[in-house]
Amino acid sequence: MSRSSNLEPPKVKPPRPQLKPIHGVPLPEWLADNWAKVEHFQAKPDDVLIVTYPKAGTTWIQQIVDLINCNGDAELSKRGPIDVKIPFLEIFAEGFATGVEMIEKMPSPRFIKTHLPIQLVPKSFWEKDCKMIVLARNSKDNLVSYFHFHRMNYALPEAGTWLQFLQKFVNGQVAWGFWYDHAKGWWEAKNKHRILFLFYEDMKEKPSREILKVAKFLDKVLEEDVIEKVVELSSFAVMKDDPMVNYSTLPSTIFDQTISCFMRKGEVGDWKNHFTVAQHEAFEEDYERKMRDSSIKFRDVL
Ligand code: A3P
Repeated sequence: MSRSSNLEPPKVKPPRPQLKPIHGVPLPEWLADNWAKVEHFQAKPDDVLIVTYPKAGTTWIQQIVDLINCNGDAELSKRGPIDVKIPFLEIFAEGFATGVEMIEKMPSPRFIKTHLPIQLVPKSFWEKDCKMIVLARNSKDNLVSYFHFHRMNYALPEAGTWLQFLQKFVNGQVAWGFWYDHAKGWWEAKNKHRILFLFYEDMKEKPSREILKVAKFLDKVLEEDVIEKVVELSSFAVMKDDPMVNYSTLPSTIFDQTISCFMRKGEVGDWKNHFTVAQHEAFEEDYERKMRDSSIKFRDVL
């Protein structure tokens, strides 16, 4: 399995993209310019959509889903990179097959990744009543992870300084828009559609419990030893060294992992190493204002 395309991946780092709004949500221009292809994507009834805000643990939940589908078989799960087995709906990267092209060639049932806020999800996913697995992560760790990801990912705008990035995040001037709207929108929808809503912090606390929830949602019955294998193979330590999930197979002109590793820390509470006391107070006050109309509750320490 490969990210096949007739074109060559870039040999030098491309210029950083601008953000362009689509229905008011800032998206990287490579996506905004191809928006019609995403909007008109045709889902199938047995498609399963995996939804996250960027850096909420997407690759982790993708790996868990793939391992469940492989019944914990490590060899089978190594048949290809995670972004080929579970393509990213809205990716359009120079030199690679697009997410839409990859998905259209896949046999069913298809598992598909997206970062889209609920209002931008292609209509056919709702018409076909597809299952969706949403994974959310507390805003501060999510922000920290997104900051470091901007530093190393040339398909996103420059991170700027920590303070500049913090301000952009709070003001929703980052790719895929406001974290707050993303979390609230999906939380609100979870009881109205076939949605399993998970938290990164719960997965850290007791992965086997959350893996069982995913298996049940996908109508899979896992033996005890299989659950143990899925826990082990989806642990941070194993995934960090697994080229099928750590994105080391992507050229450094896209992900420069000498700047920051894709599998960076995988912890709850790393925000404490980034926020000053004053930044934290201001962030919390703003958070309270933005989130007070939602019942969603996150933990930012374990
Ligand atoms: P950090 O930058 O905080 O380390 P995404 O896949 O959405 O891009 O998210 C990446 C984040 O999830 C990174 O967070 C990464 O380390 C973390 N992550 C990936 N696999 C993980 C795992 N098995 N356990 C815990 N965290 C994981």
